[in-house]
Amino acid sequence: MFTLSTQPRQVLGTFLGDGNINNRTIFGTLCVAFIIYSAAIYTSGTAATLAEPMGAEARIGQQIYQEKNCTACHQFYGLGGYMGPDLTNVISTKGEAYSRAFIMAGTLRMPKFGFGEDEISALLAYLAFVDQTGTYPPQDFDVHWTGMIAQADDPQ
Ligand code: HEC
Repeated sequence: MFTLSTQPRQVLGTFLGDGNINNRTIFGTLCVAFIIYSAAIYTSGTAATLAEPMGAEARIGQQIYQEKNCTACHQFYGLGGYMGPDLTNVISTKGEAYSRAFIMAGTLRMPKFGFGEDEISALLAYLAFVDQTGTYPPQDFDVHWTGMIAQADDPQ
């Protein structure tokens, strides 16, 4: 299965000096390369942790977000319903007061839910939590030598 035709063997052999190259050597080298590459991916590739764990208030906000099905009309990272805008970075781009106004009053196309002050604050805390997890849409990328692609404008 791992045999090379004679011609590339001879070509490789001329570089390596003995005119012939053992299949086991090739296979062994590939295995070692695979293990080193995997180790690099699994150690540096999964090192990122959340900048901040979700606080108690944001957790309540998340629950309200799910109960009221905000995601029927809104997206995080482009996923969700498409009637309303993506909310991933609404806090950092448009601001908390702006978001509060929409959640409090609704619009012609967004329902007014009649939330209390605590519920609105919880929703805003949740939106702020989501905001610090990353940027959407992604705009800037770094390609690491291991082949990993990272978002350069990601806070992590
Ligand atoms: C029936 C669809 C619908 C649902 C459900 C809905 N929204 Fe909206 N929302 C919209 C639309 C549409 C807009 C854009 C304003 C407009 O066009 O009237 C909007 C705007 C917003 C904005 C301002 C975003 C921006 O970038 O301008 C925020 C914040 C928001 N909604 C939060 C929420 C939250 C939180 C919930 C759940 C409690 C929710 N929405 C549920 C339709 C919806």
